[in-house]
Amino acid sequence: TSRRKTDMNKRPIIIDTDPGIDDALAIAIALFSDELDVRLISTVAGNVGLDKVTYNALRLLKYFGREDVPVAVGADRPLIREFEDASSVHGKSGMEGFDFEEPTQQPLKENAVDAMRNVIMNSSEPVTLVPIAPLTNIALLLKTYPEVKRNIREIVLMGGSASRGNKGVMAEFNIALDPEAAHMVFHSGVKLTMVGLDVGLKALVLPEDSEEIRTMNKTGEMAYCLFKKYRGGSFRTGLKMYDATAVAYLLKPELFEAVETYLDVELHGTMTAGCTLVDLKGYLGKEPNATVCLDIDGNAFRTWFKEAIAKCR
Ligand code: RIB
Ligand code: CA
Repeated sequence: TSRRKTDMNKRPIIIDTDPGIDDALAIAIALFSDELDVRLISTVAGNVGLDKVTYNALRLLKYFGREDVPVAVGADRPLIREFEDASSVHGKSGMEGFDFEEPTQQPLKENAVDAMRNVIMNSSEPVTLVPIAPLTNIALLLKTYPEVKRNIREIVLMGGSASRGNKGVMAEFNIALDPEAAHMVFHSGVKLTMVGLDVGLKALVLPEDSEEIRTMNKTGEMAYCLFKKYRGGSFRTGLKMYDATAVAYLLKPELFEAVETYLDVELHGTMTAGCTLVDLKGYLGKEPNATVCLDIDGNAFRTWFKEAIAKCR
């Protein structure tokens, strides 16, 4: 289609996701951006179970009129640890608050790892991976098909924290759910940017922003309804657009303050498993292996977010 032809000069990305109300907005912004070509959406158990997050991804693509984007189903649980959902934040369905129509698209037959491998190995230019969920699929991909590393441009992930957590005292949800997967990704040698809570907590949609978005278009109408049910922050004091910060980093990196540093994750702490260690002072004496976002211009993010939603349908 004509859309595919213009995609030639767009940055190819794969979004690995667990929709998820904040995932929904990140996906919308990526799909309607004129700079990104979403080659695949892969799903992983996270905010809610695998069947629900996959159903939500399909409903979003139907709603956005983008059933041309393939969906591949990934892991239904972390590599080693027990699965815990975040339905308290996103509602039982994972996308509570809006009545989507039924999807007509089916997921690919290939599982997410095989589908990601195929997209990456068949791409004429290196592919950017945008995980905005637990890293189970990404770890399995890099371990099963290490050859993909030569055609991955970088991984820009929403997860982790250089400070405190949002799933327990010191761990952020995406990393906390599968710390072993995160460890494999952080030590894979693939170029990596961590967009964590240090910016996510400041990437807020305020009530006036929600009111403005509500009447912009179909996406804005959907967003407003989902925001009423979203418990990632509060409608009154600000809703945290965690996952949108990973897409914002791709589209407007100047919003961020970021440093090259050594990043690791605790696996054995009885109270700190899943805690990301951002070694800003070099205590561990290791070479930098990641770019870590430490701050964001909150007001500039709000402006960017509303402009991005205005580009949606
Ligand atoms: O900690 C925030 C992350 O956990 C986001 O990706 C949100 O969707 C949840 O998955
Ligand atoms: Ca998510």
